[in-house]
Amino acid sequence: MYKKFVTLLLKLLVKIYKNLEATIVELKHQLYFMDFEERDSDVFVVTYLKSGTTWMQVILYNLLTDGNMDFEHIYDVSPWPKNQSIKNEPVSKLNSMPSPRIMKSHDDYSFFSKEIKGKIIYVYRDGKDVAVSLYHHHKNYRDPNITFDENFEEFFTKEKAVMNWFKFNKEWLENKNNLPVLYVTYEQLKNNFEETVARIAHYLNINLTEGILNRIREHGSFEFMKEHESKFGLIPPVKENKVYNEFIRKGKTGEGNEYMNDNQIAFFKKKYIEYIKPFEHKL
Ligand code: A3P
Repeated sequence: MYKKFVTLLLKLLVKIYKNLEATIVELKHQLYFMDFEERDSDVFVVTYLKSGTTWMQVILYNLLTDGNMDFEHIYDVSPWPKNQSIKNEPVSKLNSMPSPRIMKSHDDYSFFSKEIKGKIIYVYRDGKDVAVSLYHHHKNYRDPNITFDENFEEFFTKEKAVMNWFKFNKEWLENKNNLPVLYVTYEQLKNNFEETVARIAHYLNINLTEGILNRIREHGSFEFMKEHESKFGLIPPVKENKVYNEFIRKGKTGEGNEYMNDNQIAFFKKKYIEYIKPFEHKL
């Protein structure tokens, strides 16, 4: 009885601590953005986790600059403001970056104000494949003992999760404030790369020459990104004993069906109809 009580109490304390930690991170992020100077040329890559964010950053970087890949890490040329705020870096660093700035964001819809100066590219990926990618990410970088089912439960079935895949995507697809968003899917990039890049170039008013397209093809290929993984993955040392060569992992579509059991697939289908289906025409 006593043991059970202590376990329960410990679980409760961990929960309170985690919630508090998340609230503080969010608050720091909001404060950081108060002094952020917006520009018309800004481009935000917004995604749910593991949906092809880094891939899109590389594509945009090669589309909007001369594509010099001689940087140490993609964040040097395409920052993740939330990461900078967590690391207590001053916003002046972001404000002094040359235009156009390509910024990564996993922020939910409400984080963006009703009017923004720049443009947003939202990358959507089949949630079943996100579930697999996220599971490997957490196994490699957070908890080596986590199971696929536990991870699925945390990010897909828990209504109150900080980041629930269905809610996050629904709000971004719904786009009730009419923010300037171009929707691109991971699957379109995989199956129809050139046409999708052309659509992105058109949205950003860039003349897509054969030279630029070749550069994007080369630097945006899975093989190139895998070979230069240290430029794209998590920056060590996040934690000891963590794997740093699995950020650019498989780059496939359809893995979700291999990992999910019948109940999970049925749950996914039901929620998909409720949350995503009404906005499917935007994808
Ligand atoms: P997998 O784990 O399924 O392989 P994010 O950048 O949002 O964290 O997304 C990571 C996912 O995008 C990983 O998926 C990664 O392998 C995949 N990815 C990264 N670069 C890619 C590329 N050039 N082509 C295809 N997939 C890529």
